[in-house]
Amino acid sequence: MIGVFDSGLGGLTIAGHIRRLAPEADLLYVGDRARAPYGPRSSAEVLAFSSQITQRLLDRGAGIIVVACNTASAAALHPLRAQFPEVRFVGMEPAVKPAANHTATGVVGVVATAGTLDGPLYQSVVDRYGAGVEIVAAACPDWVEMVEGGVVDGPEVLRSVRRCLEPLLVRGADRIVLGCTHFPLLEATIRQVVARQAQVVDPGPAVARQSLRIASELAVGQGSGRIEVELTGTDRGFDVVADLVGLANPQVAVISALT
Ligand code: DGL
Repeated sequence: MIGVFDSGLGGLTIAGHIRRLAPEADLLYVGDRARAPYGPRSSAEVLAFSSQITQRLLDRGAGIIVVACNTASAAALHPLRAQFPEVRFVGMEPAVKPAANHTATGVVGVVATAGTLDGPLYQSVVDRYGAGVEIVAAACPDWVEMVEGGVVDGPEVLRSVRRCLEPLLVRGADRIVLGCTHFPLLEATIRQVVARQAQVVDPGPAVARQSLRIASELAVGQGSGRIEVELTGTDRGFDVVADLVGLANPQVAVISALT
């Protein structure tokens, strides 16, 4: 069974890609909505939550853990690997590398949470792949809030996407890297706003492929296509998102808190 987690509904974008690529895989997803958003939290808090969720996924039989959250990956991936040395983790980082390789204007835009942009993981991505290009970044906290509210299109989304992306487009960005797993859920509006000026870069499919490669190496990728979802706090907006990412008939449980 593949364990996947996020602060909320965003990581379902990764679960959806895994599902599409491997319909037979069993998935257990935890969305920690009662404590979302993680973006403004300290890395110590995000690490504590991530380690608690990892333990829960392992207790429930997960054979690999996909940290389907850039903010949790930034705060917790290295410490989690140290804390659970026998477990294979797949994490996320903003896909600056492909964007920097393909930009024609030499300007790459990155959108992510404040937690991701402030952390050393993002800095190391910029140091490793950003040489010779200008990287302009923006934190767009409203986007996470809207997705968590089940709002993925309409005038409010359009206004907020414009507000966040326009400064990056004005600087000349021709690649917009989605550095938060909630953001692909707003992709239709993001594409509308960037129009022909920029391409949108989403690492989700690559992360799903990598997760399945490791799951198959560990022989934990085959199952009966069962999808279980545990959400802390509420299932508000879940159906909208599950539908958008193509997760059909998951078994959903709302739990009051993680223990
Ligand atoms: N989905 C998340 C990410 O990829 C976190 C959003 C949040 O909780 O702030 O960063």
